[in-house]
Amino acid sequence: MTETQSHFIVRSGQPLRGITAVPGDKSISHRAVLFGMLAQGQTRVRNWLAAGDTEASLRAAQTLGIQIERHDRHTLTIHGGELHAPRQALDLVNAGTGIRLLAGIMAGQPFASVLDGSEQLRRRPMKRIIEPLSLMGARIESADGRAPLRVTPAPLNGIRYEMPVASAQVKSALLLAGLFAEGETTVVQPGPARDHTERMLGSMGVDLTLTENYVTVMPGETLHSLDLNVPGDFSSAAFLLVAGTIVPDSDITLTGVNLNLTRTGLLDALLMMGADLQVTETGVEGGEPVGEVRVRHAGLKGVEIGGDLVVRMIDEFPVLMVAALCAEGETIVRDAQELRVKETDRIAVMAGELRKFGAQITETSDGFRISGPQRLKGAVVDGHDDHRVAMSMAIAGLIAEGETIVQDSKCSGDSFPGFAQILAHLSADLVEAV
Ligand code: S3P
Repeated sequence: MTETQSHFIVRSGQPLRGITAVPGDKSISHRAVLFGMLAQGQTRVRNWLAAGDTEASLRAAQTLGIQIERHDRHTLTIHGGELHAPRQALDLVNAGTGIRLLAGIMAGQPFASVLDGSEQLRRRPMKRIIEPLSLMGARIESADGRAPLRVTPAPLNGIRYEMPVASAQVKSALLLAGLFAEGETTVVQPGPARDHTERMLGSMGVDLTLTENYVTVMPGETLHSLDLNVPGDFSSAAFLLVAGTIVPDSDITLTGVNLNLTRTGLLDALLMMGADLQVTETGVEGGEPVGEVRVRHAGLKGVEIGGDLVVRMIDEFPVLMVAALCAEGETIVRDAQELRVKETDRIAVMAGELRKFGAQITETSDGFRISGPQRLKGAVVDGHDDHRVAMSMAIAGLIAEGETIVQDSKCSGDSFPGFAQILAHLSADLVEAV
């Protein structure tokens, strides 16, 4: 539980209707701050996501001596340039993206730093970045492969690294360290991990070679500053897309959503399940395709999900579980063992909490099986300090009989501040109370 004990109170029965935008993309907002601080000159960012995770990256940049002007909560000017040795540990709180990307940057600096975070972040695996960064020559001490990480200066050399798992965080840490290395760095990826780092570094003038399977970065380029409008976060839109699909009579339109194909696997999964989705690309923001998605209620059928599609929707499985409970027939998810090392073990935690609604879920080592449709009964459930778990529970509450209380709703603000207000704006019977 986070200190202030806020909770969602949710009741079923109201269709969701209306138009809304979703907050800025979390992955891109982290990168805007962390890459902007390395650039020469002023990087201007609009629609920046002011959320728990991204604010932690912003504070880390400030601790490294970077001046950041806040014109309002979502509009920043980052005065990039030389980084200074931090006088205290960089505290990334719950932000896995923040700590892993910063580790790559810190490995290339001429000063020592300590990267740390919450108890939750201290439980997450860091060997996946420590090992390849060490192959580049980085000196990183850890608590047996976990944070806190102590990074001391060492010369880096470029490497060719085949990632054992398709991880954008690992890929990004290595590409960022590669900017400070001798020679080129190549990261080979076993699947389509999100490519925001490549897009943003490319638009900042970094010399990158991109193929479907690998990325190569050349060191030594000066990063040019950016003028960036952050698109809406598809992973936040995902909760509303599932809600609009499963709540009878719903019809909602989401605007300004990032439609980068490395992120939109849930659209493919929902379409295979029979969802009623209309996707219209409207333009490009910050080097990413954006558009509108209209979703109307539809009956769903079970689906099998594995392979590359898992990578393209890795953050969406908690809410997909809720959709699967509404689908006719069996939904089987494989190849999703990465879910076990997210903010929580999302297979075990989601299955455990959904059982409180009366759901039956079979956990497997790399996924789950759900037979539906199942009737859910309102319950008192817990968010486990995992934003996507808390919000998925709230969506389950929209179709459960009676009232649902989601304890520990505050963590939803790690990625989606205003979640309850947006749902209420769409007429859902959902409030956040303290
Ligand atoms: C992210 C990458 C993904 C994702 C996380 C954000 C990023 O993690 O789950 O929410 O911004 O690079 P992995 O790279 O560990 O798969």
